[in-house]
Amino acid sequence: MNDTAHMPIGIFDSGVGGLTVLRAVRERLPGESLLYLGDTARLPYGTKSAQTVAAYALAATRRLVSFGIKALLVADNTSSAHALDALRAEFPGLPVVGVVEPGAAAAAAASAHGRIVVAATESTVQAGIYPRAILHSRPNARVTQLACPLFVSMVEEGLVEGTIAEQIARHYLDASFSGDAAADCLLLGCTHFPPLAPLFARLLGPQVAVVDSATTTAMVIEDLLALRRLTNRSGRPGTIRYLATDDPERFARVSGVFVPWTLEAAEVETIDLG
Ligand code: DGL
Repeated sequence: MNDTAHMPIGIFDSGVGGLTVLRAVRERLPGESLLYLGDTARLPYGTKSAQTVAAYALAATRRLVSFGIKALLVADNTSSAHALDALRAEFPGLPVVGVVEPGAAAAAAASAHGRIVVAATESTVQAGIYPRAILHSRPNARVTQLACPLFVSMVEEGLVEGTIAEQIARHYLDASFSGDAAADCLLLGCTHFPPLAPLFARLLGPQVAVVDSATTTAMVIEDLLALRRLTNRSGRPGTIRYLATDDPERFARVSGVFVPWTLEAAEVETIDLG
C-alpha cells in the first residue's frame, strides 16, 4: 500500500447535511479515515449564484488539500452542480467525486416508468444538471425539477414528521405525484432531504421510489479508490475528523437529524476560510 492510501478522504458540504453521505461512506468503507468540512458560516449555498458557489467550493477544497487528502467527495449537491470542473482544473491529480451522477444513476435505475422528479435547491435546479445526467442513463425518461428551499430550514429545525412537515411536503409534491401522469420516482437532490425520506415514502405510497445519492456515491468512491490503488488496507478502523466554519455547538446539535450517533461540540474544530 502506498503512503497516500493512509490519507483521509475529504468530504465537503455547505453545512451539516453532507453527514448523510459521510455515514454511507463510513458504512461501506470503515477502514477509511474521513475529514469532513461543513461551511456552516456560508450556508445556504442553494440560493447563491454558480460563481459564488464555485468560489466557496474552491476555498473549502484548498483548505482540505492543505490538511492532506487522497480524494475529495463533494457531498453538497449545489457545489456538485456548479464546481466540479473548476475543482478538477485546479487539482488535476486529486480524484474528485460529486453526488449528482451517482444520484442520477440511482434514480434512472429505480424508476419503474421513467417519470422522475428531482427535488433540489434553487441553484441546483437552475444548473439543470440532474435532468442531463438522468437522461444520459435513461434517454426516454421524463424528468421534472422542483426547487424546495423550505425543506432545508425545516430539516435544520428537526421538523421531519408531523403536521407542519406534512403540509410543506404536500405543498411541493402533490401536483407532481397525482393524476394520470403522476411521477413514479422522487430523487432527493439535496443533502438536507434524506431525513424526510420516511415522510415522503408515507405520503407518496409504495408505487413511488424515493431515492437519494448517498449509497451510490459511496460505491463510486469505493471503486475509484480501488482503481487508483488508494484503498486503505491497514485493517484498522478509520478516524473521522469534523471541521466547520461556524458555531460547533449548532453543528453538533443539528448533526443529530442526519446521523444516528451523537456528536459533541468539542469534537468539531472551527476553521476560517477567509
Ligand atoms: N448542501 C446543500 C445541497 O445539497 C443544501 C443546503 C444549502 O443550500 O447550502 O444542495
